[in-house]
Amino acid sequence: MSLVQLTGVGKNYGNITALSGIDLEVGESEVTCVLGDNGAGKSTLIKIIAGLHQHSSGTYEVNGREVHFNSPREALDEGIATVYQDLAVVPLMPVWRNFFLGQEKRKGLGMDSAFMRKTAKQELLDMGIDLRDVEQPIGTLSGGERQCVAISRAVYFGAKVLILDEPTAALGVKQSGVVLRYILQARERGLGVIFITHNPHHAFPVGDRFLLLKRGRSLGYYRKDEISRDELTALMAGGAELEELSHELDRGGGGVAAAAAKMLEQESKELGITPGSTP
Ligand SMILES: Nc1ncnc2c1ncn2[C@@H]1O[C@H](COP(=O)(O)OP(=O)(O)OP(=O)(O)O)[C@@H](O)[C@H]1O
Ligand SMILES: [Mg+2]
Repeated sequence: MSLVQLTGVGKNYGNITALSGIDLEVGESEVTCVLGDNGAGKSTLIKIIAGLHQHSSGTYEVNGREVHFNSPREALDEGIATVYQDLAVVPLMPVWRNFFLGQEKRKGLGMDSAFMRKTAKQELLDMGIDLRDVEQPIGTLSGGERQCVAISRAVYFGAKVLILDEPTAALGVKQSGVVLRYILQARERGLGVIFITHNPHHAFPVGDRFLLLKRGRSLGYYRKDEISRDELTALMAGGAELEELSHELDRGGGGVAAAAAKMLEQESKELGITPGSTP
């Protein structure tokens, strides 16, 4: 039985159809990747699964039972935890305080600091995250390490399904590799993972299933044995073209690419949007 199953799910915001006819399944010890360009509907999809928004059509089932979550709390009670890209951490607080943020272990009238320190350290170690010191402010960790702390925290607090919204988007190659490794760790521990990304090279090595979104519709839903890395990359070709554009710009190539980038920038200014931002 699937932990999470969506069948024909759609979402309208007023007249705007953000999603339609989406099928998706996540089982125990499985990673489902959701790929798509800006505006494809990735965030809308995970907001539905996370209980932030309700779907307008189709069915959403958890452990074979249809659900209509009214809040993220209700989803969390079913073991569905979400790690958002802009992690809600308190940068100046130690790692262990952030690990237990909002779920502090109490002892009498105060907090059981010793327990929390020890547990945070052990849990991180169990995931293979060896921090020198859980006493250091979480703000001093790299972006990748912070994602890893968030993942291990969700595992500790009993998540069965872990949703990761573009955890590697802001990371370099090495840090991305670290986060991908913890996605596999979570899978090994039996969790179902929903991994949102723009990047087929991040998705392919860790994914068991791949859902490709474009303008709110499914471009395809594949199991790993049904698609190759090259095919996945080709399907995401929109993204590849953009990458080429940015390489051209990096090389200081003026000309057409620079003109196009300028135009895009101007357009987004007029529309009052920042490219790459998540609404
Ligand atoms: N609250 C909302 N009200 C109206 N329209 C919305 C709302 N949220 C999203 N949309 C629209 O739904 C579509 C899908 O948006 P969504 O944020 O899900 O895309 P995304 O794949 O997450 O994009 P990105 O990669 O930029 O984060 C877009 O056209 C967006 O403008
Ligand atoms: Mg988004």
